[in-house]
Amino acid sequence: MSNIVVGLDIGTTKVTAIVGEIAEDESINIIGVGITPSHGMEKGMVVNVEETTLCIQRAIEDAQRMADLPIDLVYIGVAGSHIESINNSAVKQVTGDQSIVDSADVDHLLAEVQDIHVPDGKEIIHSIVRGYKLDNELLQDPLGMKGSTLELSAHIIYGATNSIQNLITCAFNVQLSVAQVILQPLASANAVLNEDERKMGVALVDIGGGTTDIAIFKGGKLNYTKVIPVGGTHFTNDLAYFLTTGFSEAEKLKIRYGTVDPKKVDKNLVLEVGVVGGDEKRKVSADVLCEVLEPRADELSNLILEALAEGVGDLKELSAGIVITGGGSQIRGFEAMLQKKSGLAVRLGKVKSVNGLTQKVSNPMYATGVGLIHYGYHNYEKFAYDTKEGLFGKIFTTIKGWFL
Ligand SMILES: Nc1ncnc2c1ncn2[C@@H]1O[C@H](COP(=O)(O)OP(=O)(O)OP(=O)(O)O)[C@@H](O)[C@H]1O
Ligand SMILES: [Mg+2]
Repeated sequence: MSNIVVGLDIGTTKVTAIVGEIAEDESINIIGVGITPSHGMEKGMVVNVEETTLCIQRAIEDAQRMADLPIDLVYIGVAGSHIESINNSAVKQVTGDQSIVDSADVDHLLAEVQDIHVPDGKEIIHSIVRGYKLDNELLQDPLGMKGSTLELSAHIIYGATNSIQNLITCAFNVQLSVAQVILQPLASANAVLNEDERKMGVALVDIGGGTTDIAIFKGGKLNYTKVIPVGGTHFTNDLAYFLTTGFSEAEKLKIRYGTVDPKKVDKNLVLEVGVVGGDEKRKVSADVLCEVLEPRADELSNLILEALAEGVGDLKELSAGIVITGGGSQIRGFEAMLQKKSGLAVRLGKVKSVNGLTQKVSNPMYATGVGLIHYGYHNYEKFAYDTKEGLFGKIFTTIKGWFL
């Protein structure tokens, strides 16, 4: 087994290739990073294969150069509003010799729990074991145990075949093999959450450019996933529209002066803003930025809270609160707004357990890329794609350490 794992995060605003070398103590040494602005992506999905392919090529070439080794196998993140998920369970009587659970019992349940109605044009991306019960006793691994009734519960995530295939096609176009396609918030969760948080109940919320991706963990297990098609780009678009300025100028204003907290606005600050299609500049008071950004932040935090309520019912079940990642999580005042509205602790996710070029990946916008390495490493043997052929082989993913 190679000790090199590469995460390729094809985001709406940037493409990141991160090369991780797995040390003997299983820590990840970041030895190469390639980051390039993304083109041909909208709301987490490929809309122009040619453009996205070029961006991937650039990011991979940069990462290869820095790591000084060739990259041929990658773990890719997937998001987009086509993603859906459910919790499902399956039950069977133990038929193994002397009522001892054998692999035939487990295989039968693994097949049955995935036997759900997947809408036309969609396919299962992950089937993640949440746990087993043998005669109502919770178990991580029932093999070899004695009992009569075995139950398996799993979280099943599925998405549009075409969207997934488009990502893979872009990677194939630059001669990359795809080890696995991984739901982005699962990757981000691997990068920033610790086991205690997962046990206590925690929501990972990755606010990217085009989507906000959520993963909820309770009792150490993945409980719920969701992709909301709103991200930081929407904030920028709002500013560009209201100030009749270009996207890149609006982006700069948002990052430099933007806040969603009216109390934090410097009322005396007047900004010079270029008008789209002209040379003249207009004077705009800084509180106008907040007036535009705040309603969008309000909308996004309401969508997040709706999703969390759908995931856990009572938000108090998230004792470890909310951990936010993604570039969009950095908009000033958002963390406090989410904290106030949810009544939960909210913290900015920090990439954990990596060495090497940590400075390059410390920003929360790289959580997905680093998480893909964590995820890829821990699921290394289980390839989902017969890579060169592009064939999709259904696999059952069990995530080490998530069964407590
Ligand atoms: N300091 C900052 N303040 C506010 N917003 C920021 C800041 N830095 C980055 N952003 C915003 O973060 C967004 C990009 O985040 P990120 O890089 O996580 O997205 P992505 O991975 O490309 O997109 P997605 O995950 O949605 O496909 C952009 O909208 C950008 O404006
Ligand atoms: Mg992202």
